[in-house]
Amino acid sequence: MRKPIIAANWKLNKGPSDTEDFIKSFESRLNDLPKGVDLVLAPPFISLPKATELLSQSKVRVAAQNMSEQDNGAFTGEVSALMLKEVFVSYVILGHSERRSIYGESDELINAKIRKAHELELKPIFCIGETLGEREGGQLEEVLRRQLTKGLEGITEKQILDTVIAYEPVWAIGTGVTATPEQAQDAHEFVRSVLTDLYEVSVSEKVRIQYGGSVKPANAAELLGQKDIDGALVGGASLEASSFAELIANGVVE
Ligand code: 13P
Repeated sequence: MRKPIIAANWKLNKGPSDTEDFIKSFESRLNDLPKGVDLVLAPPFISLPKATELLSQSKVRVAAQNMSEQDNGAFTGEVSALMLKEVFVSYVILGHSERRSIYGESDELINAKIRKAHELELKPIFCIGETLGEREGGQLEEVLRRQLTKGLEGITEKQILDTVIAYEPVWAIGTGVTATPEQAQDAHEFVRSVLTDLYEVSVSEKVRIQYGGSVKPANAAELLGQKDIDGALVGGASLEASSFAELIANGVVE
């Protein structure tokens, strides 16, 4: 049985003060939420120290939304894995479609970041997903296979078990259009089959695959109820503590 993992990706929202307000409100709801789920919040870099400080006694973990593949040096604007460790970050989202499409991150760069994260024992949440054009052009499987194979090059069996995959169809991100539970399950099953090509089946069966793209309190149960969907990576619906808590309560059956 894979333990579900639900993560809030706040993107470019919430400085330290809004982060504090959210965490206080969210923590007050935690007791009423299902226990058998890993919960992660991913604020912007500037809010990470505040988040880890407020959550130091909590089961809720903190993720960065990006990271440099470099250790240090002349890389203006970058943040290293070691710096994230220093402020007690546990996870790092890598390869998000917004990083790929807006900032031009390649599969090779994302692979370098995933390797670096593991080197420093940060757990990557590795995002993959196709655009609408790629899906309509019949390239869904080819794109997912390429992103997975290149992104995971050199990643060992032990490391893949500490990696979360997030399948996020680009056309479903921030659009209000969710993949149907069947579309999502089909893609997740395919992702797991690629993992089985790359690793032993006993390993690929243990890797958690989140779905992301317009997950809301109203559709969480149906999506997370699918066999190969092991959690969610949530944008818009994670910005209010009440809505994120409702989504968790609906999505996780104990
Ligand atoms: P939305 O939930 O706003 O569609 O965002 C999904 C996402 O990109 C999470 O990483």
